[in-house]
Amino acid sequence: MVDLHSHIAWDVDDGFPNLYDSREALARAREDGIRGIVSTPHFVPGQMDQELYDTITMRQRELLYEAKKVRIVIYPGAEMFMNEYFAKALHEGWYRTINNTKYLLVEYDVRRDIHDIDYREDTLFEVEIHDMVPVIAHVERYFHNGIDKKIIQEWFDKGYVFQVNRTSILGEHGKQMQKNALWLLDNGYVHVVASDAHRLSGVRTEKLSDVKTFLENRYGKETAELLLLNNPIKILENKKVENMEVKKRGLFSWLR
Ligand SMILES: [Fe+2]
Repeated sequence: MVDLHSHIAWDVDDGFPNLYDSREALARAREDGIRGIVSTPHFVPGQMDQELYDTITMRQRELLYEAKKVRIVIYPGAEMFMNEYFAKALHEGWYRTINNTKYLLVEYDVRRDIHDIDYREDTLFEVEIHDMVPVIAHVERYFHNGIDKKIIQEWFDKGYVFQVNRTSILGEHGKQMQKNALWLLDNGYVHVVASDAHRLSGVRTEKLSDVKTFLENRYGKETAELLLLNNPIKILENKKVENMEVKKRGLFSWLR
């Protein structure tokens, strides 16, 4: 599996705090069946400076070396926070795409409901005019009162890529987030499932095997592989992602 969203780079954001925890997480990831990880530290527009940018670059290189010891490949990336300084940050070059492709991992403030974010469409449009494709991080987490199908359909039609968190699918972020994640999966709106790992312990760990089993049981092996391996690889290679195949759910799948 390839984990497209992880805060495995230590001591650069609210993710892994030190080298030792990152090292241990990498070893466990290897055991778990993960062979590639995109390092996606938070980039907060308005709070970035050259020093932090250089520290992140250096840390991603150190991480590459650490991961090589357990035969995991690290790819560079960032998770861009979409706030009022976002457009300026893109214009000035304070961003990092996934593995230097056209794909940019972006997030909104998860504490706010998507309907309350008035620059919602402007920031995504800004990504497009820079010839990049938004990969919307944990898309399920912005809909506090259930999925807004109109917004999802519009984004999907524009070719935006949807990433859903392992933890939401498994119910670690509460019932509503799980409901959102499963609705997106059931209706074929998910391109990538990732860990969004932050810590060695707790829920957001560097792990994907449990969600892989869940996806295999509910949607079949092929879909699990698409979301955890094939689409992440497509993104790393700057190719177009594939949509999930939505099968009519018969009685058998209801029983599972
Ligand atoms: Fe994240």
